[in-house]
Amino acid sequence: MDVDLNNEAHKESQSVHVEPSKVKEISAPEDIEGPEDAEGYKKRHLNVVFIGHVDAGKSTTGGQILFLSGQVDDRTIQKYEKEAKDKSRESWYMAYIMDTNEEERVKGKTVEVGRAHFETETTRFTILDAPGHKSYVPNMISGASQADIGVLVISARKGEFETGYERGGQTREHVQLAKTLGVSKLLVVVNKMDDPTVNWSKERYDEIESKMIPFLRSSGYNVKKDVHFLPLSGLVGLNMKTRVDKSLCSWWNGPCLFEALDAIDVPFRDPKGPFRMPIIDKFKDMGTVVMGKVESGSVREGDSLLVMPNKVQVKVFAVYCDENKVKLAGPGENVRVRLSGIEEEDIISGFVLSSIAKPIPAVYEFVAQLQILELLDNAIFTAGYKAVLHIHSIVEECEIIELLQQIDPKTKKPMKKKVLFVKNGAVVLCRIQVNNLICIEKFSDFPQLGRFTLRTEGKTVAMGKVMDLNSASSI
Ligand code: GTP
Ligand code: MG
Repeated sequence: MDVDLNNEAHKESQSVHVEPSKVKEISAPEDIEGPEDAEGYKKRHLNVVFIGHVDAGKSTTGGQILFLSGQVDDRTIQKYEKEAKDKSRESWYMAYIMDTNEEERVKGKTVEVGRAHFETETTRFTILDAPGHKSYVPNMISGASQADIGVLVISARKGEFETGYERGGQTREHVQLAKTLGVSKLLVVVNKMDDPTVNWSKERYDEIESKMIPFLRSSGYNVKKDVHFLPLSGLVGLNMKTRVDKSLCSWWNGPCLFEALDAIDVPFRDPKGPFRMPIIDKFKDMGTVVMGKVESGSVREGDSLLVMPNKVQVKVFAVYCDENKVKLAGPGENVRVRLSGIEEEDIISGFVLSSIAKPIPAVYEFVAQLQILELLDNAIFTAGYKAVLHIHSIVEECEIIELLQQIDPKTKKPMKKKVLFVKNGAVVLCRIQVNNLICIEKFSDFPQLGRFTLRTEGKTVAMGKVMDLNSASSI
């Protein structure tokens, strides 16, 4: 299904410092154990983004997780069933748990990223339910940039896997964006296994897995180490909290979704590194409150920090993880920080809360290695090319100033010939300029703050890594 919902994509290409979408908070995590002591947590915490083509079943699966973990009662489900029926969207009632806006319920499409919480044996999870429709890719990017791991939802229903996977489908685009945005591990759930066209067929499951593997590999994922597949029915809730019954699916011997999420290992992040938190949102509430994900270091009450790039020194009044006030929050946590010393108007999303001793660099220009994906109308890529840069929570217009060197994709070595333009598929080193100071890092120092995408007219045209920061223009 592909309806043009609005003109978001077009708006995006003209915007500078666009406010990233607000997330909608779904489950309040009162009954979930918060941080335990000042230095650590009883349970680890992971942010999981649900990605995949429109209608794959992301919200349905997210909603089912909340139902199975006891956060939504039967009465609410019955109410949603009735509401969905009234809107002639009978099968969407589970998705209504995540899709809380009227627009989303009427159209059956997620627009804003929904955020919810649940926990398994070993882990506290924050779910980020991204929209699949191509008009809302900027919202998906903001969801993915907050995540550590991804659940890629694929519909096994006849024809639906094919539409999502073909060129221009969001299965491909979401995978490439997730990798670029630092989503290091993927659980690929082959959903709608209960559908009459699938009926828990091993053949269909194997077909999807075998087609996805080479693509995931070409997108940069180590399929053996970083990717796991499993069959699922989000709507019926099978192979989720407990393993699917053998009488239904005799061939599946692997884990269910909750087990697989429990078992995911993520790389260690140093809580003692220099503090970095890109700001995704801000508001006024007894001072100035900023929201974001801690990408490096830790923050605690009483800390003095810098808001960059405007170099305003601030003091931390309070730190909140989900709804709980905490003394300390480390890397990977989504937090709200109440600050004194700055007005809310003086902060723009994309600014970075940073350590004073080692502040994040602010630049107008940087050198990047770009992988060109697919240019609009097969345009050529050359100096003067303009696009929208998405890097952590920054959305900013940019211009390619100079192509420096083309890289041979096979040998990964620079080619000798001087390069003036490149085409689809090329890998190229170039200089990129922006009009406003932005705070970014070299990919080799802080991968999460040094990888980015370029988009034009609502399409992702390139992915890149920051190789060098231009110190002449930094402050
Ligand atoms: P967007 O947010 O618009 O990208 O869609 P989504 O991926 O969140 O899909 P959503 O959960 O809204 O589900 C889309 C449709 O697929 C609804 O009609 C669901 O009932 C149906 N669906 C989702 N999961 C399953 C499943 O496991 N089995 C079957 N049979 N249908 C499902
Ligand atoms: Mg959805």
